[in-house]
Amino acid sequence: MIYTDKIITNHKHLKNLRSILSYLLLLLLTLPVFGQDKKAGGPCEGCEAIYESPVPFDKLDMLAKLPDATWNGKKPLAINGIVYKADGKTPAPGVILYVYHTDETGHYTAKESAKGWEKRHGSIRGWMRTNAKGEYKFVTLRPAPYPGHTDPAHIHITIKEPTLNEYYIDEYLFDDDPLLTADKRAKLENRGGSGILKLKDVGTMYKAERNIYLGKNIPNYPSNQ
Ligand SMILES: [Fe+2]
Repeated sequence: MIYTDKIITNHKHLKNLRSILSYLLLLLLTLPVFGQDKKAGGPCEGCEAIYESPVPFDKLDMLAKLPDATWNGKKPLAINGIVYKADGKTPAPGVILYVYHTDETGHYTAKESAKGWEKRHGSIRGWMRTNAKGEYKFVTLRPAPYPGHTDPAHIHITIKEPTLNEYYIDEYLFDDDPLLTADKRAKLENRGGSGILKLKDVGTMYKAERNIYLGKNIPNYPSNQ
């Protein structure tokens, strides 16, 4: 009887040990996920493409002309703005911006020589670094929406502040896009502020402005930035 009791007690200990080990294993497996969530902006697949800049960050200009956006007969689109710090009024110099978008067919078409994230993001992409006044500008052509889908046409943007990890903000969208419905507008997170562009036709090109507010609606954004 005593012997049986001992076996049962040992068995219970073993069960407890197994439970503890299972918990530890679960914790180990989920730690990287928690780590991702604590990053400013949360998890972001593909944000690391910002590090594929063809020149070192400190050599980037405030102006980018997106290569391969040379569709015949289309008017270029120039987008400019000021990046502000979290206080909403101090210009933020030295912020890296990475943008990419679909071509006139709505695809992220990549060149044959494409490497890394260019294969997924396509070859119409560019990098900028805000100047002392926090200004940035890029020139491209208006992208087309994904064919056969209801997503509005958009330009993706990832940003990197000098002392913070990279994170994505709301995509640039087009106010006159019929796919940008009231329902979709209501669901926008406005990360970094609104990304909806109002295009002005200035004859030879379209112009649009978007200011960016660092940390605005960005989860885990540090308070000391
Ligand atoms: Fe997209």
